[in-house]
Amino acid sequence: MRLRKRYSEASAPGKVVLFGEHFVVYGSPAILAAIDRRVHAKVRVSSGEEITILSGQKLGGSAGSGRIIKTQNGPEPKQLLEPLVECAKAVLSERGYKIGLNIELNSYFPMGVGLGSSAACCVAITAAVDSLFHQPTKKWICMKATESERRIHHDSSGADCNICTYGGIMYFTKGNGFKRIRVEKDLPLALLNTKETHSTGELVSSVKNYKDSNYPAFRGLAGSSKIISQKALNAIKHSDYRGVGGLMNQNQTLLQEIGVSSRKIQRLIDLCLKKGAWGAKLTGAGGGGCVISLFPPDKHSTFFRWIENNLKTCEPFPLKIDYEGALIH
Ligand code: PMV
Repeated sequence: MRLRKRYSEASAPGKVVLFGEHFVVYGSPAILAAIDRRVHAKVRVSSGEEITILSGQKLGGSAGSGRIIKTQNGPEPKQLLEPLVECAKAVLSERGYKIGLNIELNSYFPMGVGLGSSAACCVAITAAVDSLFHQPTKKWICMKATESERRIHHDSSGADCNICTYGGIMYFTKGNGFKRIRVEKDLPLALLNTKETHSTGELVSSVKNYKDSNYPAFRGLAGSSKIISQKALNAIKHSDYRGVGGLMNQNQTLLQEIGVSSRKIQRLIDLCLKKGAWGAKLTGAGGGGCVISLFPPDKHSTFFRWIENNLKTCEPFPLKIDYEGALIH
């Protein structure tokens, strides 16, 4: 395939897991939603064969040919940047090219807090690099990005790359892929950041350890997670927000049981529930990261103002769903 341009830009949204995180790795369903905050990747062909990644704001440094040149603050920049260099290389090799690239990444949401930043980076880089050659399909972007994301999170379910590529809300199982969930309006959700960063890989391994040493208990919890996600699918479709909230609380209990909640997560959840939220839970791998809470729709703005005033340090924002997924600009 021939190089058709020397510069391209693509972006992909972050995501929240509304239901079923961790258990999705073992075949139970999960419900995910793309959020209206994105990672942008700008790719420029350079001379030589080096691939350099430069990142702004929250991402952590620059890397060349798999070798980290410089890192800034940010969680585990080396572990993230090296796989992203590999992600760009994998696309080039698929197109039969060995060329130099300067990649600039900008994330408009915090990374390492369960909002799918690594998947969004893989999707945006895959889309941007491939669009140097042609107009890639979402199916291909998702497949290649998932392979790359597995270099970051070895046991990843693949759910994150799917939602970051296609956008919207979806019901996902590892075996059957995703089904889009159509909703009339956005769920009245707010997002709070504990500011405790986490490593998805480490949390996924700790859950594996839990499963290996408590298999009967784990099987029971995975069964409950499956039922919760199935009921949630119905409740979301019918805009039964009180029902969705109650199921979020049940889901959180399972996540506590497998040891991925934290004191700070629990404190934020308790505060939201005390203030009248119908449900609240961690989202993503846990061990810190973000909390989502669902408030009665007629009180959403009042509660949101309260959160903004009282939990400012948690950088709250109302969740809006992104329906576009990966975009080539
Ligand atoms: O915290 P995040 O955004 O990396 O989400 C991880 C979700 C898990 O279910 C824990 C893992 C997975 O691959 O689905």
